Amino acid sequence: MNASTARPAAPGARPLAGRSVFPIGLGCMGMSEFYGASDDAESLATLRAALDLGVEHFDTADTYGFGHNEALVGRFLGGLSGADRQRLTVATKFGIVREPGRYERRIDNSPAYIRAACEASLRRLGTDRLDLYYCHRRDPAVPIEEVAGAMGDLVAAGKVRAIGFSEIGPDSLRRAHAAHPLAALQSEFSLWERHLEAELLPLTQRLGIALVAYSPLGRGMLTGALPATADLEAGDFRRALPRFNGEAAAANRRQVDALRALAADRGLPATQLALAWTLHRGPHVVPIPGARRRTHLAQNAGAGAVALDDAQVAALDALFPQGSAAGARYPDAGWVGIEAA
Ligand SMILES: NC(=O)c1ccc[n+]([C@@H]2O[C@H](COP(=O)([O-])OP(=O)(O)OC[C@H]3O[C@@H](n4cnc5c(N)ncnc54)[C@H](OP(=O)(O)O)[C@@H]3O)[C@@H](O)[C@H]2O)c1
Repeated sequence: MNASTARPAAPGARPLAGRSVFPIGLGCMGMSEFYGASDDAESLATLRAALDLGVEHFDTADTYGFGHNEALVGRFLGGLSGADRQRLTVATKFGIVREPGRYERRIDNSPAYIRAACEASLRRLGTDRLDLYYCHRRDPAVPIEEVAGAMGDLVAAGKVRAIGFSEIGPDSLRRAHAAHPLAALQSEFSLWERHLEAELLPLTQRLGIALVAYSPLGRGMLTGALPATADLEAGDFRRALPRFNGEAAAANRRQVDALRALAADRGLPATQLALAWTLHRGPHVVPIPGARRRTHLAQNAGAGAVALDDAQVAALDALFPQGSAAGARYPDAGWVGIEAA
């Protein structure tokens, strides 16, 4: 970064892909798929508002909206000044292959596929280098060293700045990192989903790998503002998720009511308390809450300034002990390629 673009790091900034980024990133997925209809104009305004609030990390993937999400982010990037573009670390991902309109997927990690997927992402994002490129899901037919090696070749070719994996387990993480240094592991991590805490949370910190926490608001459940599942739009993916249905949903909503009460005691929205807890898990954790609207984005960005004392963390830990979420986090078709169950 040159002198004209250098800005002081935000309080609580986190290292990511060789840069220091604002503690809260922005997940862009919902702007194209999964959580009901979206509005490109509001999505673009949300991306702009994020930048104006100091957010420096955007997350997308080739599979979100079958290219729509990358193209949308690319459209936004194309309108930025060089200085603003340089402030952003934009991550994308490859590996999930779906038929348009279908959730069911297969996974491809072959080197030829990775090279072709990278070219397609570069094109849609309108850039000549990806800041952070993830393998989205693992294809066990290809050894992870070969996958990391193919991604490392893209780094050597100048097409990718840093690499990461999503939803891999500790052994794979060690093996991949030995084949090519990893900048990030991206996996589901929130008050609601704490399975990473035993091994992957300390391991990533020890290895100097950022832990990018996806769905840090439990896909909206932890906001305490999610409508009843029956009232979600017909195409909303959460209608198919075990945690949002039946007895499991009722139990989960009771837990979230208690979270809201704890947050209200501090004069905070539940979202900010949930995100602050995630940030508190380690200086290498970067939550990427998804938001399609500026109001949500602004509230989430404010969580970076929420300090928690030990008693508050203990109260949250007691309210959401590991494994306390009712129901599986994915439907059967969603487990393919996930190692860190
Ligand atoms: N690596 C992977 O396999 C993987 C999987 C899933 C997601 N991700 C990434 O992680 C990002 C975040 O995860 P996510 O979007 O699944 O879940 P999330 O961040 O836990 O929750 C997003 C939901 O919460 C709502 N929301 C956000 N802020 C809110 C607020 N302040 N008040 C009320 N509601 C609020 C959003 O609504 P609006 O959209 O209406 O604002 C959306 O419905 C994704 O965008 C994607 O980039 C990665």
